[in-house]
Amino acid sequence: MAKYQIAVIPGDGIGPEVVNGTRQVLDAIAVRFGHEFAYTELLAGGIAIDATGEPLPAATVAAAKKSDAVLLGAVGGPQWDTLPGDKRPERALLGLRSELGLYANLRPAVLYPALAAACPLHPETAAAGIDVMIVRELTGGMYFGDRGRREGPNGPEAYDTEAYSIMEVERIARVGFEQAMLRGKRLTSVDKANVLESSRLWRETVIRISQEYPEVTLDHLYVDNATMQLIKRPSDFDVIVTTNMFGDILSDEAAMITGSIGMLASASLGKPGTPGMYEPVHGSAPDIAGQDKANPLATILSAAMLLRISLGLGTEADAVEAAVAKVLADGYRTGDIVQNVGSSSTEKRVGTREMTRLVVEAVANA
Ligand code: IPM
Ligand code: MN
Repeated sequence: MAKYQIAVIPGDGIGPEVVNGTRQVLDAIAVRFGHEFAYTELLAGGIAIDATGEPLPAATVAAAKKSDAVLLGAVGGPQWDTLPGDKRPERALLGLRSELGLYANLRPAVLYPALAAACPLHPETAAAGIDVMIVRELTGGMYFGDRGRREGPNGPEAYDTEAYSIMEVERIARVGFEQAMLRGKRLTSVDKANVLESSRLWRETVIRISQEYPEVTLDHLYVDNATMQLIKRPSDFDVIVTTNMFGDILSDEAAMITGSIGMLASASLGKPGTPGMYEPVHGSAPDIAGQDKANPLATILSAAMLLRISLGLGTEADAVEAAVAKVLADGYRTGDIVQNVGSSSTEKRVGTREMTRLVVEAVANA
């Protein structure tokens, strides 16, 4: 029996609920396929600030590095919003990304046929389908560049710096091309090369790397135009590769057009052989925390990515994804999805626990 070490970081808000549900799904996979998942629960985010005074304790980083993969819920909440930048819960996420070297963030935005009515776009646009893979650079750019406060010509000012090395662009471009090779062989690189020097380096580097992937069709969009095209013709996109900052924004937009941010999974990956981190794209949603309202599917789908990418368990990942698709096709919806379509008699509204139970049952019976 294969044994895998999974570091689990429930975090804040709805994080613990969706992560605990996801563990039940993983346990169902373990039983059905004969694996053993050993979980180590770790502190990060606001809960870590309360317990230890820091958002990302060194013990958490050390244990995460020793695991086969990390499953994270969400961090942050209003009670920690007034802390200085380097003490905020979000530092835990940024710290994990940089400490684990997770430079590539994969955010698939898929419109499930069963949720077509939840798509806020024109029905004809939704009918054409949405299946976009956003590849976001995750350890560079403005998020990690030089920043500070200083005295400027107009008085006190603040600055953040966008900087990309050729090496950083090369490695994320390759991830984009590799994803395209696994999918529709089309890659769109998003930048702001009409204004930013870092974007001009980005674009010329992506073009150079494209010579390694002659089968992939590459095109380029300025980020402002990309936000429009994503709404106008989402079905035209296959893989998008972009910077940390632009990827943050575009992935929320992509999430919304698939109906609910409560559905979107993500994988953050570093060098081959190092643990990846898997988390829902949504945040900690403190307003609904602890009320059995959160949609666990984004975290469950993140666990499917964990199985496939970090543990090499493709059949098991397929089983999780098929279970989610079945439960949605059977009409079960958490509040975040129902809200978008109004009340409908064919839909059955369920809470976090019941949605989890249905997925576990589908995994066990498939
Ligand atoms: C995300 C989040 C984070 C980011 C925040 C919480 C630091 O918005 O993962 O998209 O900006 O990267
Ligand atoms: Mn974001």
